[in-house]
Amino acid sequence: MTLDTPMAAMDRDEISKMRRSYGEIGLRESDLNSNPISQFQLWLSQAAENPMVVEANAMVLATATDDQPTTRTVLLKDVTEAGFTFFTNYNSAKSKSIDENSKVSLLFPWYPMERQVKILGSAVRISGEDSDTYFATRPWSSQIGAWASNQSAPLASREELEKRWAEFATKYPEGSQVPRPPHWGGFLVIPTMIEFWQGRYSRLHDRIRYTKGAAGWKLERFYP
Ligand SMILES: Cc1cc2nc3c(=O)[nH]c(=O)nc-3n(C[C@H](O)[C@H](O)[C@H](O)COP(=O)(O)O)c2cc1C
Repeated sequence: MTLDTPMAAMDRDEISKMRRSYGEIGLRESDLNSNPISQFQLWLSQAAENPMVVEANAMVLATATDDQPTTRTVLLKDVTEAGFTFFTNYNSAKSKSIDENSKVSLLFPWYPMERQVKILGSAVRISGEDSDTYFATRPWSSQIGAWASNQSAPLASREELEKRWAEFATKYPEGSQVPRPPHWGGFLVIPTMIEFWQGRYSRLHDRIRYTKGAAGWKLERFYP
């Protein structure tokens, strides 16, 4: 079977019958780290070690401007007490959206582990120096890709993109030091809420939320 192999579309009945039972392993407040970043780092490392989870550091980023929220996947590249970092094109639709409204949401959907982590917070641009440091670690072909892509702008043809890539590859040959494009860099999402969800039997899932207040992180359980 290839990606192009024709398959019958699933009908409503088939989709509505898709369900699985969730597990016995639960979340107890006493087992959770009082610091949600440490708790997240533990879950991320468990997801990364799980062969069923593909791209454990992939997260869905939601932005909202006016009355239209939008989502897309980006890769988490760092997590510290300060927050969650990803990299992108500063001219992209997501960046324009963040420029208008810095409030964002992140979601890590680790379905094979019956887990998700949802984060609310504000996105801020990281320093040019920090973006330079990460850009320098990227493979050469990705560095050239960052120059070639006018991310989120209309593109007449695939050939045009490949032509632009080849032009930048000639300008910055493999082995040379490729400068970071000025329109490319990182965002730090500073969290105000981090919620851990663990699937349980009979749909009695565990849902524990940490909310940031003046006195630090407050931990509460919510109905699933
Ligand atoms: C697994 C995966 C990882 C991705 N990682 C990134 C990323 O780290 N940065 C990025 O700008 N786009 C990434 N993308 C592409 C985005 O989902 C999106 O298509 C692109 O950033 C344009 O989004 P926008 O038009 O909403 O700005 C990724 C897509 C997938 C499926």
